[in-house]
Amino acid sequence: MEPDPDTKSPIMEEVASHSVSSVVAVAGHPVHAMLVHFPIALIFATLGIDIFYWFTGDIFFLRAGVWAAGFAFALGVVASIAGTAELLLVEGIRVRVGSWTHAVAAMTLLSMAGANWGVRLYFPEEVLPHGLVLSVLSAIFAGLAGWHGGKLVFDHGVGLMVSPDE
Ligand code: HEM
Repeated sequence: MEPDPDTKSPIMEEVASHSVSSVVAVAGHPVHAMLVHFPIALIFATLGIDIFYWFTGDIFFLRAGVWAAGFAFALGVVASIAGTAELLLVEGIRVRVGSWTHAVAAMTLLSMAGANWGVRLYFPEEVLPHGLVLSVLSAIFAGLAGWHGGKLVFDHGVGLMVSPDE
């Protein structure tokens, strides 16, 4: 039997009843959404740098990769602190499964970004192929985490309005 579209689920009503307004925001702008662009850009930059290093063998790209991967990881940690604060403090974010899916994808991404930096710092001779593989995986997970993060904002309306306490 087809479900009646007018029948409201009490569970969905309970989920929808909680606020999804950002509490970690500056002048109405969620801090996490402002910060995530930096690690995302640097993760893709690291992949580009690795490809240039692969094709040219120029040692310049080896050094550039250390900095790009290092800042991708460090700024990813900073962005994640703001994201985790939202997740823990805002009930409407906490009760949505999509928030946790995004957090798991983001933490997987962060651990790979950290490993990628470590390979470059301590085993530069391993950048080809291991660093390159980590860069490819990081780019895939940046896409996954970013897509789930975007769904939180555009599908669930998370962080679109700041709470009156802000
Ligand atoms: C455990 C770590 C993280 C948690 C708990 C988390 C949580 C959140 C939350 C609650 C939102 C909704 C917007 C807001 O309230 O600010 C969001 C959005 C988003 N997040 Fe995360 N996040 C984490 C890490 C990351 C990382 C590492 C990235 C990518 C490098 C990322 C990428 C995004 C993107 C692209 C959005 C959509 C922003 C927009 O379209 O304006 N997040 N995240």
